[in-house]
Amino acid sequence: MPVIRFVREGQDVECYPGENLREVALREGIELYGLKGKLGNCGGCGQCITCFVEVVGESSPSSLSPRTGVEERKLERRPEGWRLACQALVQESVLVLTRPQVGLADAEALLAAASQAPLPAGPTAWPVLEPDPGEEEEAGDGEADPQGPA
Ligand code: FES
Repeated sequence: MPVIRFVREGQDVECYPGENLREVALREGIELYGLKGKLGNCGGCGQCITCFVEVVGESSPSSLSPRTGVEERKLERRPEGWRLACQALVQESVLVLTRPQVGLADAEALLAAASQAPLPAGPTAWPVLEPDPGEEEEAGDGEADPQGPA
């Protein structure tokens, strides 16, 4: 289900429901931080307010988890669509503008193009990992003998 469409970067990134937006962005090489954040950020604790993103287009407000208490305080004087990426969990596909405080040439055209293309389905659930048969055998080696020592 969730696909994050990064409007500034022109990049779609799949993630699993409930993934942290900041972690997904960093994993995918998305430039989340401006100069201040590059020089020093809090590592995702919600304290430095350098990981701004804006939910844009027709994206539902429920695409991301509700604002946390930290965000309510830190984003008090910021536009309503702004979030701290480190505090937001992705619940549904969403259009996101990174570094909304930084100007973007052709912003309207980019947003219109990003809004027109349908979002791909993306994964709907975390993958179920099958246990490695080798691990089961190894785990069995360490079990106590029910007959006790000979
Ligand atoms: S990384 Fe510091 S507030 Fe998000």
